[in-house]
Amino acid sequence: MKVVEIIGARPQFVKAATVSRVLRKSGTDILVHTGQHYDENMSRVFFDELEIPRPDYDLEVGSGTHGEMTAKMLERIEEVLVKEKPDMVLVYGDTNSTIAGSLAAVKLHIPTAHVEAGLRSFNREMPEEINRILTDHASDLLFVPTQVAVENLKKEGITKGVHLTGDCMYDALLHAKALSADRTILKDLGLEADDYLLATVHRASNTDDERLLRNIFEAFAESPTQIVLPLHPRTKKMVQTFGVDTTGVKIIEPVGYLDFVALEASCNGILTDSGGIQKEAFLLGKRCITMREETEWVETVDDGWNILVGPDKGKILDAISNFHPTRERSEPYGDGRAAEKMVQIMLDF
Ligand code: UD1
Ligand code: UDP
Repeated sequence: MKVVEIIGARPQFVKAATVSRVLRKSGTDILVHTGQHYDENMSRVFFDELEIPRPDYDLEVGSGTHGEMTAKMLERIEEVLVKEKPDMVLVYGDTNSTIAGSLAAVKLHIPTAHVEAGLRSFNREMPEEINRILTDHASDLLFVPTQVAVENLKKEGITKGVHLTGDCMYDALLHAKALSADRTILKDLGLEADDYLLATVHRASNTDDERLLRNIFEAFAESPTQIVLPLHPRTKKMVQTFGVDTTGVKIIEPVGYLDFVALEASCNGILTDSGGIQKEAFLLGKRCITMREETEWVETVDDGWNILVGPDKGKILDAISNFHPTRERSEPYGDGRAAEKMVQIMLDF
């Protein structure tokens, strides 16, 4: 079996590391990096730490408007697929790299598999929502992480090719947990375990609105517990553009996955608008304060470990002081062996 994997953004490197590790044992795995994320600490560090082979193709698309990026990717991915003639194309998540990969494949009649299918925020203003809906409808195999996502697909008439595999980010986290125990990042940053809150912000709806971005940074500055913020390049750019005051927040560069998991594992709680980090917080038993109005990972909220506060300063500060989960967590994200199941399903297809 010859598979072309399309990746390009930070969370896709984490997910692909797990599937690619298994895939390489059973067939030919061609890695295509679109170049959507390209900074050393947004890209290369993940390949090095997670032992992902160097990409066979680096399309070097870089940043741009949605149309510009997606169009360049589509054109360059098509060239690769015509040349490689794979048995299957594998795409991950909901980024512009995902939609470009699935669209290129489906137009060439190459079977397409989508990892993290069926997730919905029901907010069509999110670029990711459009990417994931279109990708699901173009895919032959849909690797679904949760039962809720299976139901979401059913409501859109998609039942064929749907496989509830569990979430390969759980596989990744289990792999990283042991390795991250030796990291010195806490010491390097002068942090004590349980004495800081770990934050990330990068969602376009938060970063590109000056008022909302200021709200978030004001809440961080007034937090009674120190906030540590590995700053996403998009957010860095917008903080500079709007001249947002970041006093009182411990800002660091984005870190590699092992350091990030180490920071997650020792923090007092997580504040985020990321998708993947809400799940990691849950899986590590950390309270999560999500600066969005809705989430795709509804299980984390239903179990009482995640609270949706939006980019609202008062609600963020209230949650920092008063939101403390008490209930047992269920196990909605599988058994940590999702990647093996996905590869077996692809082989059977
Ligand atoms: C993208 C995904 C988002 C995902 C996130 C993961 C889309 C539409 N969005 O958002 O779903 O959650 O990745 O982190 O695909 N930049 C750099 N260096 C880099 C990468 C980006 O400086 O290596 C800056 C550029 O100014 C760029 C901006 O960040 O314009 C946004 O990058 P982009 O890839 O368009 O979107 P993300 O916000 O990273
Ligand atoms: N992550 C990381 N370093 C950081 C911030 C995040 O390694 O400085 C990891 C994190 O552990 C998770 C993934 O990146 O696995 C989440 O990516 P991101 O929040 O950028 O994207 P999303 O999940 O929202 O699409």
